[in-house]
Amino acid sequence: MTGFQREAAALACDGVALDRIAAEHGTPLYVYSAATIAERYRAIDAAFAECPHAIHYALKANSTLAIARLLRTLGANADANSGGEIDVALRAGFIPSQIVFTGVGKTDAELAQAIDLGVRTINVESAGEIARVDALSRDRQTRTRIALRVNPDVDAKTHPHISTGLRTNKFGIPIHDVKDLCARAGFLDGVQIVGLHAHVGSQITDLEPLTRSARALASLAGELRAAGTAIEHLDLGGGLGVSYDGAPVPGARDYADAVLPIVRESGATIVLEPGRQIVAPAGVLLTRVIDVKTAGPRPSDLAPRSSDLQPPIRDRLFVVMDAGMTELLRPMLYNAFHRIEPVIQTDAPLVSCDVVGPLCETSDTLGKDRRLPRPEVGELYAVLDTGAYGSAMASNYNRRLLPAEVMIENGRARLIRRRQTIDELLALEL
Ligand code: LLP
Repeated sequence: MTGFQREAAALACDGVALDRIAAEHGTPLYVYSAATIAERYRAIDAAFAECPHAIHYALKANSTLAIARLLRTLGANADANSGGEIDVALRAGFIPSQIVFTGVGKTDAELAQAIDLGVRTINVESAGEIARVDALSRDRQTRTRIALRVNPDVDAKTHPHISTGLRTNKFGIPIHDVKDLCARAGFLDGVQIVGLHAHVGSQITDLEPLTRSARALASLAGELRAAGTAIEHLDLGGGLGVSYDGAPVPGARDYADAVLPIVRESGATIVLEPGRQIVAPAGVLLTRVIDVKTAGPRPSDLAPRSSDLQPPIRDRLFVVMDAGMTELLRPMLYNAFHRIEPVIQTDAPLVSCDVVGPLCETSDTLGKDRRLPRPEVGELYAVLDTGAYGSAMASNYNRRLLPAEVMIENGRARLIRRRQTIDELLALEL
């Protein structure tokens, strides 16, 4: 078994005790299991084995170089969402033909970077973007391979902030405009349409939106081919969710079983852009308790005992951690749930508490109404399933320093990113 397991009372990552890692590297600290990343990548690869496919890991989920490199050595390709992510992909050793470039607002400079490199495809999002890629390519006397990002008007039934496939969302080309656009693009010398792309959202745990989106792409591919466009690949995007609370959710095999019958017939190469599915359960955020305090009393608590049946609000505990929204934005931004567990299990009585961060915002809360063995100052906690969109979305708000990151490989802990220093943070300021 790989990943995060208890060995007696102590939580460990691939056999290495997390309290030892925290003692050496300090907190807040991200810890990743290389074995879990490998296992999860291979599960997707195996699930799609019967069909020509290419897995382009979505760097946005976690582009720490060591993680990007690990995925490359496993055989993954890359999905980059900005010029910066293209640079990261190159530094991680991906070659341009292994990179797809996606994103709703690519600047001319970013497009030129991708065109000059000769990435596998640029997933274009609008008629305007096709025109810009065409012009930039003709300037360079080259022809760029593009895929059309289709907006299939599918409700991903996930958090509205991460739903991208509805026609009211900013993403993609409205599905009914695609055929016309494709016909017009056929006359452009600077672009060659080679694929179709859709990504309808993230943390999707119901396969229906993913199959609807795949069906829309497959049928559109048939129509475009009939009209003379050689569609080589169908890019199904990412989006498959993980279980944050332990409840069962569809996995890579269920996803493949659902979409393969739809897309197989097309004979096209299937491109996938998974992010969260590979890395979310492969990481934890380690954080220590800084303070434990009770809420202020309500007036009724101060009054002589009344007929008030509710427990005194003084029973509400705040457990203040040394990590918060700067290290993990997801709870604040999407009301996302992450399990929070003591690294060393104690037999202290269970209490209800709010696990909060140290920042100057009430929404800086890692977990509300949690039942935990009564936390003590100095104790180490793990926030689970934070390998995706954790460190990648970290910020310097309140002048906090980006956390360190450690990867467990073959039973050894390796520092893959050291903690930022205040000098590094201020180095840009004049
Ligand atoms: N491809 C495209 C074009 C995308 O926009 C995304 C994610 C992916 C692939 C990867 O999706 P995944 O397999 O990871 O679901 N910050 C949010 C998630 C934002 C996802 C944005 N796009 C969160 O923490 O939940």
